[in-house]
Formats: sequence, C-alpha cells, structure tokens
Amino acid sequence: MPSHTRVEGSDLVTLQKSDAADRSVRVDWNSYASAYDLLSEHNPEYQALLHDFEAFLATIEKPRLIYDIGGGTGNYTKIAARICPESEIRLMEPDAGMIGMAKSKLATHGNISYGTLALEDIAASEAADLVICVHALYTMPSPEERLVDLRRLLRPGGWLYLIDMGRHMDVRDWRNYLFSSLRQQLGLAGALRVFWQGREIAKQNKNIFEAQKAGDYWTHSEAELATAATAAGFEIVRKQSVYRGYSDLLVCRARA
Ligand SMILES: C[S@@+](CC[C@H](N)C(=O)[O-])C[C@H]1O[C@@H](n2cnc3c(N)ncnc32)[C@H](O)[C@@H]1O
Repeated sequence: MPSHTRVEGSDLVTLQKSDAADRSVRVDWNSYASAYDLLSEHNPEYQALLHDFEAFLATIEKPRLIYDIGGGTGNYTKIAARICPESEIRLMEPDAGMIGMAKSKLATHGNISYGTLALEDIAASEAADLVICVHALYTMPSPEERLVDLRRLLRPGGWLYLIDMGRHMDVRDWRNYLFSSLRQQLGLAGALRVFWQGREIAKQNKNIFEAQKAGDYWTHSEAELATAATAAGFEIVRKQSVYRGYSDLLVCRARA
C-alpha cells in the first residue's frame, strides 16, 4: 500500500511493490497537480473522456452515493456534482496537491466530501451506487486486488465507470499530439506559452513511463483489464479503447 511521505511541504507518494520492496520510480502527483488542469483543459482526448462520462451519467438512474477514487483535481466529481445535485459524492484522493486543487475548484458544491485515504484503506460504511475510477488504478499496488476493493465499495448492481491507462506512455508521441492540438487552438505563441507553463506534465509523464517499464505501474490490454474486472466480481456492460489507444474504458455492474 502506498505510504505518504511529507517532503518539504509536499506529499510524495512512495510507491511500493505489493507489501515488499520500495518501488524504484516515483511519480510526484503533487508537482503534477498545478499543471494538470491547464493541459487537461487543452487536451481534446481528456475532454472527450469527460464528455463520455457525462453522457454515461445521463443514461443511469440517479445514484444516491458516488465515490470518485483517485479523483485528482476533481474533474469527474465536478460533472457528477452538476448532473446529480441530489447525490452524495465522496472524492477520495491521497495527494495533498491534487485534492487541494479539487477543494478550491469545487467549493461551491455542498454535496461533496473529501477523503485522503488510498483505495485499499477505505472502509466503506455504506454501499455506493456508482464508483468512478479514472487513470488511477494502473498506478496502484496490486491492481487486481484493487479491483476487488472497487467492487467492495458498491452495492450489487451498482455501476463502475473505469478508465485505465494500459499501454506504455510514449512521452514524445503525447508531446507532439498536445503541441499540435495547442497550436491549432491557440496559435504558435499560445502553444509555446501553455507548454512552458505545463512543463511539469512532461516530467511526470516520463516518470510514469519509467514506472511502467520497471513494472511498478500496471500495463495491460483491454482484454486483460476486462478479465481482471470480471474476476473481481463485475459484469462488463461496455468496453472501449480510448485516449488514443493508450487506455481502456469499462462500464461495469457489480455482480451480486
Ligand atoms: C492521473 S491522476 C487521475 C486523476 C483523475 N481521476 C482524472 O482523471 O483527472 C491519478 C491519481 O490517482 C491517485 N492515486 C494513486 N494511488 C492511489 C490509491 N492507492 N488510491 C487512491 N488514489 C490513488 C494519485 O494521487 C493521482 O491523483
């Protein structure tokens, strides 16, 4: 389970391989946080995922209790809070920088509570109707077991909206893609400005790649993710390759 080490006022998630040796590569989500929303806003693929989530929410009965696991800066929680104002939403995010951004961004919503526990440490008091987990599972220790934790949070028949990065992060490919998208949106000077402001993302993306190569972060095919979700007690309703083929989206229901 990740431990959280306070270093010069910031939380670094010290990644550990199962319960044994320290993981060799660190991704500093805290440094990631300030640049995260800037680039996400201008990343059409990130925006497409948010649109998919919003469209999905419109198709299901309004959930009473929602968890957003590894909710980061709160972009999925924000959509859930807007579409489901009557729902109780719990954003769970262990990183101080990410959750800090979420809290300031979502301050006007009265139906969101915040928790800093890692998924594996959450003792759910009530079963949720919807669990959101986007681009967080692959970073967690023992992800197949974490899928069982996601199932544990849900009532039978409850929904899991899961997106996970399965393929190696090709930093150059993403940099080229983002730069050409930014250039189309903002022109050359605007693209250079946002790239400079968001330069921390490139650094952390490289750390993600290193963690994947070292086997500390999970890589998987769509079929492997689906098999793991089925084994954890989910029925798969929709599966799709997304995020330029780097990630997999599964919409699942918790089996009884
Ligand atoms: C790439 S961010 C994704 C944030 C958000 N879901 C989004 O798509 O914008 C991954 C997040 O997972 C969080 N995380 C890492 N390990 C975790 C764990 N064991 N339990 C819950 N969250 C975790 C990190 O702190 C990080 O903020």
